[in-house]
Amino acid sequence: MTKNAVLMSLLLCGGSGAAIAADVPAAAAAGKNVFEIRCAPCHAAGLGGDPGRDHLPGTDALRIKYKGTTVPALLERRTDLTEPVLKVYLRHGSWSMPPFRKTEVSDADIANLAAYFAVTSLAAGRK
Ligand code: HEC
Repeated sequence: MTKNAVLMSLLLCGGSGAAIAADVPAAAAAGKNVFEIRCAPCHAAGLGGDPGRDHLPGTDALRIKYKGTTVPALLERRTDLTEPVLKVYLRHGSWSMPPFRKTEVSDADIANLAAYFAVTSLAAGRK
């Protein structure tokens, strides 16, 4: 399977049936924007030189939750965060993560986030 075929199947499995190949980069770019505004404050990677960022609540909680497994603490490295999976977590919240209203993160934003994670997890070398 080529990378594009993998991307397409991830995107289509995510429930975005109207997606066509040309939409993948656009959706992923839009998803990156949503991630940086809505998710990165809690889920970004720790940045060298700023010790506080090594302990962002999302990254830190997931590092502890998945300790001893192969599941990465960083959302951008995960291959399992498809649109339906993200929708459950984001609409209902998850332990210390609050739920997001549709006015904060829309359904289209969630589809774009799934496209973004599909691209970043491939770039991180996970299959
Ligand atoms: C206010 C901080 C905060 C923000 C903002 C936030 N999260 Fe979270 N998120 C958390 C925390 C903390 C957890 C871990 C909850 C737990 O299990 O203890 C978490 C867990 C998750 C999980 C569950 C993963 C798992 O395997 O349990 C997903 C998926 C997730 N976040 C996605 C997102 C996305 C996508 C965004 C942006 C739209 C986002 N989060 C924004 C704090 C945040």
